[in-house]
Amino acid sequence: MSNRTIADRIKIDALSPVIGGLVEGVDLARPLDAASRARLGQALLDHKVLFFEDQTITPQQQRNFAASFGKLHIHPIYPQVEDVPEILILDTHVDNLPDNDTWHTDVTFIETPPLGSVLYAKQLPPSGGDTLWVNNEAAFAALSPAYRAFLERLTATHDFVKSFPRERYATTPSEEKKWLVAQAKNKPVKHPVIRTHPVSGAKGLFVNEGFTTRINELSAAESRSVLDLLFAHIAKPDFQIRYRWKLNAVAMWDNRATQHYAVADYLPHRRVMHRATILGDRPF
Ligand code: OGA
Ligand code: MN
Repeated sequence: MSNRTIADRIKIDALSPVIGGLVEGVDLARPLDAASRARLGQALLDHKVLFFEDQTITPQQQRNFAASFGKLHIHPIYPQVEDVPEILILDTHVDNLPDNDTWHTDVTFIETPPLGSVLYAKQLPPSGGDTLWVNNEAAFAALSPAYRAFLERLTATHDFVKSFPRERYATTPSEEKKWLVAQAKNKPVKHPVIRTHPVSGAKGLFVNEGFTTRINELSAAESRSVLDLLFAHIAKPDFQIRYRWKLNAVAMWDNRATQHYAVADYLPHRRVMHRATILGDRPF
């Protein structure tokens, strides 16, 4: 007699020793039972980014899957699926140029940056449009002990405007209205440069080129040189995975321990992705 549970059918293959896991045996269109939820939660800690291929999910199902990991964030700027505001749309083409081709961690411009994101490939170019993720904990661990100790005493400022500048996101009167509200609600925030993962306790870099503007305890020149060093350091292939998307694949990442970069090499083709963003807690 078999007493195998749904969670036992989940198979996870490491795509590299450092980051990335390919998950089989989960249908994201169905509600997650507690054991599967726990298994995926642990896999997310272990692999930092999980890939689920051949998924057919509606925006509501994507929202429900993401919501089983926490409350969802509603993005202040990106367009949303009608009636499902928790799902944002990244629809990039010649008239809406890609804007995620910078290393970044999602939404670090708020006090409680996301725990994770769930991204679904709806339409892909014939080739290109890959996404890369970095394990911020592996990147931190590769620094010298003296430099790590120096970084652990620092905080940094993260600013919404750095990735959502007025010139690009406020070009019509209605966009401008939305942008001004977003800017008023998202004033620059401070986070530690080195973050302790709230579940695993691991330490990782928590600055990103997308939103980090300044290391607060240093002079402008010192801050620039430390950030330049860290942004170059995280871009080493040693800490990364590069995922070649398949249509209907889903990526879910631990936004507390990673950053990512969407390669913008596919114009004039179009690429459409749907994202749900799970809120997290205050970094420490
Ligand atoms: C995101 C993002 C990456 C991509 O959804 O947060 O940066 O590959 N997108 O579209
Ligand atoms: Mn992103």
